[in-house]
Amino acid sequence: MVETRVTIAIDGPAAAGKGTISKAVARELGFAHLDTGLLYRAVGAKVLAGAEAVDAATSLTAEDLEAGNLRTPEVAQSASKVAVIAEVRAALVDFQRAFARRLGGAVLDGRDIGTVICPNAEVKLFVTASAEVRAERRYLELSASGHDVTRDDVLADVKARDERDMNRAEAPLKPAEDAVLIDTSELDIDAAVAKALQAIMDKTAH
Ligand code: CDP
Repeated sequence: MVETRVTIAIDGPAAAGKGTISKAVARELGFAHLDTGLLYRAVGAKVLAGAEAVDAATSLTAEDLEAGNLRTPEVAQSASKVAVIAEVRAALVDFQRAFARRLGGAVLDGRDIGTVICPNAEVKLFVTASAEVRAERRYLELSASGHDVTRDDVLADVKARDERDMNRAEAPLKPAEDAVLIDTSELDIDAAVAKALQAIMDKTAH
């Protein structure tokens, strides 16, 4: 049997559709999937609960990743604040790299997977959409899960995180030079997933 150690790196700004695309691609290919944003969200949540950021990152457990509040806008903001700290990022590198090289293939989504965590990934996608489209999608998601948010608040949250993520010194959000760009502004989920799968086939065809 042929060993598969293909790594697919999917990066992009807040609420661009990375998570949905990553899950669908992983399911389609039978690969494992890691939402690396969850690691930063878990650290951010621990900081909101009183922990020191670097301590929180170095002592992160599987249980921390299952906390119920990780998808809230408050935790998202806290995540993007702890994500600027070099020691926090460094504490999370080994886990992400080990996951990326799993047998059977792996899809990782985040901000710096193709640029810093897995610069040798076989496939790199950069998923984006206009800030307005991204905020609308996140607003619908948050409202559907019972969060009391306004469209304006969600747009401001998305823009503040993009700004922080793109302008930080450590592993800023940007496409890797060899990434395939996918703009999902005018694509529904099926069309975005189809585009991602096509790009993966093109990159891995020998
Ligand atoms: O789901 P959404 O795109 O809104 O956010 P996320 O992927 O859960 O990431 C939350 C925050 O974690 C981001 O705004 C980044 O600041 C940070 N993050 C990062 O710095 N590097 C990653 N690989 C993933 C997330």
